[in-house]
Amino acid sequence: MSSESNALADRPRSSVVGIEVPHESAALHVTGAALYTDDLVGRAPGVLHAWPVQVDHAHARITSISVDAALTVPGVVRVLTQADVPGINDAGVKEDEPLFPGEVCYVGHAVAWVLGESLEAARLGAAAVEVAVGPLPAIVTIEEAVAAASFQGTPRTISRGDVETGLATARHRFSGEIRIGGQEHFYLETQAALAEVDEAGQVFVQSSTQHPSETQEIVAHVLGVRSHDVTVQCLRMGGGFGGKEAQPHGLAAVAALGAVLTGRPVRLRLTRSQDMTMTGKRHPFHATWEVGFDDDARIVALRATLTADGGWSLDLSEPVLARALCHVDNAYWIPNIELHGRIVKTNKTSQTAFRGFGGPQGMAVLEDILGRVAPALGVPADELRRRNLYGDGQSTPYGQPVRHAERLTQIWDRALQTSTFEQRSAEVEAFNSAHPHRKRGIAITPVKFGISFNLTAFNQAGALVLVYKDGSVLINHGGTEMGQGLHTKMLQVAATALGLPLGLVRLAPTRTDKVPNTSATAASSGTDLNGGAVQDACRQIVDRLREVAAPLLGVAPPEVVLADGRVRAADGSAELSWYEVVAEAYMERVSLSAAGYYRTEGLHWDAVRMQGSPFKYFAYGAAVTEVEVDGFTGAYRTLRTDIVHDVGDSLSPLIDRGQVEGGFVQGAGWLTLEELRWDTSDGPARGRLATQAASTYKLPSFGEMPETFRVEFLERAHESGVIYGSKAVGEPPLMLAFSVREAIRQACAAFGPAGHCVDLSLPSTPEATFWALSEARTARAPDPPTSGSSGALDGIRATPVPAER
Ligand code: MTE
Ligand code: MOS
Repeated sequence: MSSESNALADRPRSSVVGIEVPHESAALHVTGAALYTDDLVGRAPGVLHAWPVQVDHAHARITSISVDAALTVPGVVRVLTQADVPGINDAGVKEDEPLFPGEVCYVGHAVAWVLGESLEAARLGAAAVEVAVGPLPAIVTIEEAVAAASFQGTPRTISRGDVETGLATARHRFSGEIRIGGQEHFYLETQAALAEVDEAGQVFVQSSTQHPSETQEIVAHVLGVRSHDVTVQCLRMGGGFGGKEAQPHGLAAVAALGAVLTGRPVRLRLTRSQDMTMTGKRHPFHATWEVGFDDDARIVALRATLTADGGWSLDLSEPVLARALCHVDNAYWIPNIELHGRIVKTNKTSQTAFRGFGGPQGMAVLEDILGRVAPALGVPADELRRRNLYGDGQSTPYGQPVRHAERLTQIWDRALQTSTFEQRSAEVEAFNSAHPHRKRGIAITPVKFGISFNLTAFNQAGALVLVYKDGSVLINHGGTEMGQGLHTKMLQVAATALGLPLGLVRLAPTRTDKVPNTSATAASSGTDLNGGAVQDACRQIVDRLREVAAPLLGVAPPEVVLADGRVRAADGSAELSWYEVVAEAYMERVSLSAAGYYRTEGLHWDAVRMQGSPFKYFAYGAAVTEVEVDGFTGAYRTLRTDIVHDVGDSLSPLIDRGQVEGGFVQGAGWLTLEELRWDTSDGPARGRLATQAASTYKLPSFGEMPETFRVEFLERAHESGVIYGSKAVGEPPLMLAFSVREAIRQACAAFGPAGHCVDLSLPSTPEATFWALSEARTARAPDPPTSGSSGALDGIRATPVPAER
């Protein structure tokens, strides 16, 4: 380990990181004083309101758009159409996402925007715009797309070893398929932008965006101007969850275009149903698989084909697919493996980033396999999982060594211990034999999640640290705040690096004119990247202040220590205040500000061969969940969840705990409650999202929280080479929720004969659970597992593997 990374990871004796502090905006959040983008409307005199003209066809050619009637609506100021775009008519970076489309590609596609003096005027104006279309055939499901060869993007393959021989020689073989549902982000704050233009034509866009630099680039290319003509600011987001990584750009561009054309501020904020019908969601996936196990129930070989539903355009579908393929292994060693991935194009919203970014969908494939086949192998599911966990010296299918694999088993054993798994498994069995109509299930599942952007170039960040003459500090960094606590952590990092109390450091909103060329705040890497940059900037200033203080303290500069707002000689012989040293630096004309920069070392990734070490490290965790399922309705209650999760040395324990709890609940929502239903009929509503409101789309609420919820961090988990020894926490905990689904599977199995394999739909809603337990009830007892594969194959509803292929 280089001294550089030790300096990055080592904590000074007196440090503000690691202390439990509330979210920097907690008081503002709970009192309603926190400003979100759309709250700024009242501060923008003369503001115009934008409303989309949405077309209710899944697929259609636009033959004409007539705006005359709209312009006669009182209060309508202007209608924006394709003809108004001075630059490039595209909302993305793949040139397949026209901002003003010539073709309607999904139900609810916005083809024009109306600007009005009031929201109501704009709404009435949009209703008066006449769009004539010629309907085209629409593709709604993955199956239809595959049949029609409607693909987009580049298919990818990861492979290692000899799958053919592995499968052929495996003692137990199974095959099957799984459908994996999408997920609506349902951030509390819907997509929003507010744009204005100054006297020199400089465009300023406030946007609820996870990726201000890309929003800036796209606004600039739509307007046909340069990046320095556009500034994007993000105050904070009321949740992003990946849904504001690529989706805000076009909306910001519409607001900016309106502002440029009218000279007035333009505000655009989607209503909930507009947001749900217009913006991308988690990718639904379909997977087929064949797997082989040896006599000890160890995985010998896996072959799978994953098909992602990208929706009408690509945006982030390719990297989402890459991450999915890189996470099929989850925490398990698979010596022979072949994973194929492809993306279909459908007439639906353009599916996008969502917490985990394909990782959860990849993991779902193998977790589903293990949960399904365990009874056929005659091994308890927890034992099957434990036996296949990565061990020392093993590497992933894409060739990255699994460093700290021992943490997986440590975490696993700790989770079993704190949850008293063994004892409670016996209690569950006793409960189940005493209750014919209610059954309990308990399950443990692991998480291993790679941290860094797969694309190496994105793993860089910048920061700006300003020290004023009075000793107060203002920091700015490239990351955005969406509730995850990034700003809180950055304040703690800056205070630690400067040796100051937290109260002396203030943070300014994220802006592209402060830190340029930033990456999206995504891939859970916000803290690793921006923390490195903030620390770098602070260190430059500290080095200068050491030079200033050294002669005053009578020691050499390396002997000067900054801590607790004091500047001391290391031997304690002399001491100055921070304020004195800052004032002296100013008088000596020593710069008190610095731009910091960080890039993650040691990454390499071949995106074509799908080989390399794309991740700086892996985040690990495990969860034990117990549920109770009602045999009459399939409704379930989560009785208890115990989590052990690896956050390295936590930078901010309260924040990290919130991330673990929130991620877990969001994952449980995806896996067991939230169900996007699209109209797949041939009727006039074909392609329509039927679940476009909270009334029909079931989100997790307090009622679905585990009744007992215990979260513990892995101890002595210092991570060298990462900011102050910490690990990223934003996404990994979402995947701890597989324990809920697997516990439901166990409970369903308890309704049937011993050894019954449960095929459970995903999402495992109460309805799906009811079907699974009904099937268990009517199942006959399977034959006991034999050493050959065919006996086991009969045990689950799976297609037998042909002997030759
Ligand atoms: N937590 C809250 N409260 N709100 C969010 O929108 N987004 C998640 C996660 N946690 C999110 C959240 C996602 S998708 C990511 S990638 C990370 O936070 C991004 O922030 P980080 O890189 O600072 O962890
Ligand atoms: Mo998170 S899905 O990487 O924004």
